[in-house]
Amino acid sequence: MGRQYHQVMGPTFHTIIEPFRIHSVEPLRMTTLEERSLAVEQAGYNLFKLRAQDVLIDLLTDSGTGAMSRDQWAAIQHGDESYAGSPSWFRFEAAVKELFPFRHVIPTHQGRAAERILFSVIGGPGKIVPNNTHFDTTRANVEFSGAEARDLVIAEARDSALVHPFKGNMDLGALETLLREKASSIPAVFVTITNNSGGGQPVSLANIRGVSELCRQYAVPFFLDACRFAENAWFIHEREEGQSDRSISDIVREIATLADGMTMSAKKDPFGNIGGWLALNDDELAEKCRSMLILTEGFPTYGGLAGRDLEALAQGLKEAVQPDYLRYRIRSSAYLGEALDAAGVPVVKPIGGHAVYLDAKALLSHLAPLQYPGQALAIALYEVGGIRSCEIGSVMFGRQPDGSERPAAMELVRLAIPRRTYTQSHIDYVIEVVTYVAQNAASLRGYQIVQEPPALRHFTAQFEPIK
Ligand code: F0G
Repeated sequence: MGRQYHQVMGPTFHTIIEPFRIHSVEPLRMTTLEERSLAVEQAGYNLFKLRAQDVLIDLLTDSGTGAMSRDQWAAIQHGDESYAGSPSWFRFEAAVKELFPFRHVIPTHQGRAAERILFSVIGGPGKIVPNNTHFDTTRANVEFSGAEARDLVIAEARDSALVHPFKGNMDLGALETLLREKASSIPAVFVTITNNSGGGQPVSLANIRGVSELCRQYAVPFFLDACRFAENAWFIHEREEGQSDRSISDIVREIATLADGMTMSAKKDPFGNIGGWLALNDDELAEKCRSMLILTEGFPTYGGLAGRDLEALAQGLKEAVQPDYLRYRIRSSAYLGEALDAAGVPVVKPIGGHAVYLDAKALLSHLAPLQYPGQALAIALYEVGGIRSCEIGSVMFGRQPDGSERPAAMELVRLAIPRRTYTQSHIDYVIEVVTYVAQNAASLRGYQIVQEPPALRHFTAQFEPIK
């Protein structure tokens, strides 16, 4: 009988198969509740200040935390550390241009270095940079130049429970209004794929085409913040009409040709532990950016990277667009999110590509936003189960440039999933811990900030539980 089935199409199994097996292992250190309570207290209740060996499952970020493949480690042996014109550079440049055929590729040590270089050239007072949603470093780099960072994501994105296939889309109407009134003050329009600060939600190809058309109509350059381009392309492949027969690389290339440039953190989809780039078509702008690159990053054929890093990224880019990998990747994020949803834990829906976002405002409704419900939830997940997550709410966004404080639009806790790093049983453990904490959420206390720097306070602020 099995044989007959096989001859037709093969039975369908539902267990997620990690499309790799483990080749080299890293130990995880078990700790007790008591040890963790002490560790987090000593860290000033700031999870960024923990020692990583005190964390069991580290979901702080998917950035630079992925596992490299055998072929990436092998590529590292080919790293050529020549100061100028290294063969590793040419392999890296070719791999980038294969997917993103921009005329100029400018390597940087990570995404924010590309942002700083670009905005130091095109930003400045009086300028406005629209984006679906700026990531925090992107916003900080725009604002540091004196320009205004404006988020124009569709209204549906602000309702965490609402299901929409492309919740990262730009509000094209709002963009057109802004372009009509202010085109001369807009040095570039950005679209972040996937929209990290909005829940890791994808942007549709139709929406990217729409942004591209508007930008061309108003002669404003269009840039991508493309860290999670492959995950975004997979969602387009799965959800958008007419896209299911195309290869992922074909979809990615079309997205690139619709834009005039990109900033990139290669620490996400390309499986880099470090790396990034700025790519663009405009010769004059590229010249100015390269001058800035030499000032702070390095010579244009290595930027902020070693030859071996360039090799690892060239190989990682090829692996990032493999359908077996992307199917597993997106399915495993959904597996975590759907299990939590089924257990009654409020999560941002639909589940995004690289992370599951818990809605701390809904779960800890007994706390006011400025008692930092997201922080309280993140600390509890660490104390109870050794899981490190990241608050994305009023701690991260509450302090305004004028020094005042106001609640963020959402109080989220992000469980970011490192690529190819944890197995399904690790994730099953996470599901158990989060469910337990959620069931006891009403007993969680709020926090107050006792010390904070003037900007980007979430990295270093010190907290105390409210008595
Ligand atoms: N843009 C987006 C959308 C990002 O998610 C990040 C980083 C950057 C730019 C900056 O890149 O870290 O290489 O300098 N996101 C990480 C995160 C840090 O945890 O989401 P970078």
